[in-house]
Amino acid sequence: MYKIDLSNRTGVVFGVANQRSIAWAIAQTLHQAGAKLAIAYQNERLKENVEKLVKDWDDVTLLECDVSDDANVEAAFGKLKDKFGRLDIVVHSIAFANREDLGGRFVDTPREGFRLALDISAYSLISVARYAAPLMAPEGGAIITMTFQAAERVFPGYNVMGTAKAALENEVQQLASDLGKENVRVNAISAGPVDTLSSRVISGYSKMKGAHSDRAPMQRNITVEEVAKTALYLCSDMSSGVTGEVIHVDTGYHVMGI
Ligand SMILES: NC(=O)c1ccc[n+]([C@@H]2O[C@H](COP(=O)([O-])OP(=O)(O)OC[C@H]3O[C@@H](n4cnc5c(N)ncnc54)[C@H](O)[C@@H]3O)[C@@H](O)[C@H]2O)c1
Repeated sequence: MYKIDLSNRTGVVFGVANQRSIAWAIAQTLHQAGAKLAIAYQNERLKENVEKLVKDWDDVTLLECDVSDDANVEAAFGKLKDKFGRLDIVVHSIAFANREDLGGRFVDTPREGFRLALDISAYSLISVARYAAPLMAPEGGAIITMTFQAAERVFPGYNVMGTAKAALENEVQQLASDLGKENVRVNAISAGPVDTLSSRVISGYSKMKGAHSDRAPMQRNITVEEVAKTALYLCSDMSSGVTGEVIHVDTGYHVMGI
């Protein structure tokens, strides 16, 4: 339990698939801080997992929302408006690319694989922010998303997801610019490697994880709880002057040249 109090705040966390999901670690931390939460999951197949995870929470809203269609995003925020009236926090922790596009040569990325990865992993933040911002008025709120250092430099195997993360990080800046006057802050966490369903399909993931622990200033990999603690900071008034930012939670790996 950390000493940030979110007990009068409402939030929605997108991207819980199972107990390893970064979104689940963030949801638990926000819940422990007292936030009243909704958990959005992609499809019916994941519903049971999510129900089991939150079984001990007394007040939680579960929403199905596949972000590949804006109508689903609009409907989800409609339900959130009915339930909460207003919204303080949105966590976007969603990415997808075809497995065959997360390995081999980037130059071979097919047009459809590129479209899909950018649509789900990057465009979705725009539609989520568009429907979330009106529910944050007039006080404002915090939107956070999850990125990776492959946005900034090459991580072989990460391929089209690196392009998607570069787009996502640019969106964080443009959304921060659009929504800042409404006191809606938009930030990203650039996390080091964490074992999840999504990271496991990246070819070379284990090598990437080994490189982080060998070369990072702190000589170890991060924990998912460390990501969640930074999310808590970004979703609270502790970060009231911070927007358009990408915070690296990577035990310092990004500062190293070799
Ligand atoms: N695991 C890592 O090493 C790592 C590092 C840095 C950033 N990230 C990012 O963190 C975020 C969460 O990933 P994770 O590692 O927790 O894996 P995860 O597989 O647990 O989470 C990915 C989530 O995206 C959801 N999703 C995919 N397509 C969707 C769609 N069409 N509609 C709605 N939801 C959809 C999945 O259902 C899942 O819940 C991703 O953006 C990922 O790129 C992960």
